[in-house]
This record gives sequence, C-alpha cells and structure tokens, in this order.
Amino acid sequence: MTASNLQTEIFEQPEAVRRLLDACQGSLPGDLRTFKGGFNYILIAARGTSDNAARFAQYLLQNRNHVPVMLAAPSVFSIYGQTPRLNGALVVGISQSGQSPDIVSVLAAGRAQGCPTISLTNDPASPLAEASDLVVDLRAGPEKAVAATKTYTASLAAVAMLSCALGSPEDNWTPRDEDWATLARVPAWMKETLDGVMAMAGSVERYHFMQTGLTIGRGYNYATAFEMALKIMELNSLAMLSYSSADFLHGPIGILRKDFPTFVVAHSGAMLEPTLQIMARFRQSGADITAITDSQKARALADISFNIPAGVPEWLSPLTDVLPGQVIGWQLAALRGLDVDNPRGLSKVTETI
Ligand code: F6R
Repeated sequence: MTASNLQTEIFEQPEAVRRLLDACQGSLPGDLRTFKGGFNYILIAARGTSDNAARFAQYLLQNRNHVPVMLAAPSVFSIYGQTPRLNGALVVGISQSGQSPDIVSVLAAGRAQGCPTISLTNDPASPLAEASDLVVDLRAGPEKAVAATKTYTASLAAVAMLSCALGSPEDNWTPRDEDWATLARVPAWMKETLDGVMAMAGSVERYHFMQTGLTIGRGYNYATAFEMALKIMELNSLAMLSYSSADFLHGPIGILRKDFPTFVVAHSGAMLEPTLQIMARFRQSGADITAITDSQKARALADISFNIPAGVPEWLSPLTDVLPGQVIGWQLAALRGLDVDNPRGLSKVTETI
C-alpha cells in the first residue's frame, strides 16, 4: 500500500529541521544586528498551526531573550481597519503559505510605521515575505497533506533559531553558541521520538470510539497542547479542548468524569511539578490519561505513555513532544477509514481576512 502524504511528511520532519539548521549554519539569513536594540517588544501575527508556533515563541523569547512578546489580533488591522501605534515593535509573521491577507496586513502596518519586520515562511516569494525586511525560508519542501506537520516543526525550529541568534539585552544581544549546539541535536531527538511512538502505534486503537477529548500543556508546551488537539481534531472531525493546567483548574475541571480521554504533556523542567499535580487530580476523577513524557513520575500517573527521549531540554521539547500527537491523529483517522490527506471541509491554503 502506498504511504499517504501525511505519513511521508511526518517522517520527513527530522530531515526537514536538519536542512533548515544546516542552511543557517549558526546564524539567521540577513543581518539581525540592525534590529538589535532597535525594539522593545515583539508582536507576532499567525493563524492555525502557525499560531501555535507563535505560542511557543511567546514563551521562548520571553523566557530566554527577555523581550516581551504579544500575539497580534489581525482583524484589528484587516477588518476593523485600525492601525494601533506599534512604536518599539519588532513585527514577526509566521505563515507556512505566506498568503493569508490578515497576517500580511499586520506586517504591512508595521512596515508603514517604520518597524523592523521578519517573516518565517515556507514560501520566500509570498506576499508575507515581500512585506518583511528579513525572511527565514523554512525549506520544509512542498507539504501536500492538508494537515500541517513538517511546516509546523520547521516553524518551531525557526523560532528557536531566532531566539539563539537574538541573544538578550543584558548580554548586549550576543548570539548564544551553546544554544545553537543544543539545537543541532534536535533532529536526532525527533527521529528517536518517532521511532518510539511508532513502536506503540497499535495502542491508538484505545481511542477508536473517542468523540471528544482534552489536551493539557503549559509553558513551552502550551503550544503542544493546542497543536496536538488541532491534529487529532482536523484529521478525525472530532471536538478537542486544549488548556494550560492552570486555566483548566479555573472552571473547566468540572467536565472531567470517568474514562474521559485526556492527553497531558509532562516534560521535565519547570512545568513538570504543576503538571504532575493536575495528573493526580485527573486520576482521582477516573479520567483516562495519556502522557507524552520523559518522566517516570508522569508515567506512573498515566494509563498509557508515549515516551520522549531523556535529555531534550524543556525549551526545545515542543519539537519532540508534538510528534506523538501527530501520529495519534494520523493513526486514529486511518483506523476510522478517513482520508488522512484530505480531511473533511479543509483545504491546504486558508486565506482569512
Ligand atoms: C492545520 C493546518 C492549518 C494551517 C493554516 C496555515 O493542520 O494545516 O491550521 O496551518 O491554515 O496558515 P498559514 O499558511 O498562514 O500558516
């Protein structure tokens, strides 16, 4: 049987990230130095999967580069026709296609106000790229499956590259060579994760009759919770909720009941302890817990675990931890006899205004 485009693209990911890292050889294309010190905050515009990459950027660039990061509300620019004053912003667009007019409108407004603009896109000839001073070409190659996989992880890698290249104000914006060296290890970690997940692919049968579910992730992996839910949802036409473990306690926890399917990202680091605490609450409620984890303690609280190799630092963990979610979405759809390359009601490029 021929492999679906989705399957092929899922397995291309370690190589796609390696290609991107090799092409940039420890620095970003273009001269970031002209921007450094010339902005006080970062404004990011993105939609769909790319918006989940923006959520990762929100944690990474604030935690490691000490720059405030805001996510744009594109309709303010494109539909309300307003132009908020963007003084002091570095405006970043993340878009696989680079086509969506609302995202382009945010970059165009930034440029018109004299702000530096950067795009992370898989199409360096796109309207978004044209509105940008610096373009990071994701080099993921054509993505044929409607559900984005390799362009998502390439966007995450590009965000991590931006962080490494930027440095921080207190280090006089000096790029961090040791971080580039850690980033270079990501493709091997991704491959190891995929091998481990595929060895357990048969266990996806347990979700065969799932109609709804919940993903939980916090900090860097808040992005993973959303992206994992999006993959399962769009490939299987079912409803998924995504929350940070903190937000979930503020009300939604009331939905939990016995056997309710939950998918929890529990990666070692600052967020592990609060995540273990919410897993313990989930256990008390009798919910069904799938952990995506590198932690023995999390495994002990879960009904089933998809393992992440030891040693992946929390700040890069979204690049590995999303992979089980992609495989679950794909395998579940295949099990249900759905067309994994063309999910119902979706097309590859979505242009929103
Ligand atoms: C989800 C998916 C969509 C796209 C989004 C891309 O798997 O494929 O969410 O990621 O429509 O928009 P651009 O091209 O602007 O990144």
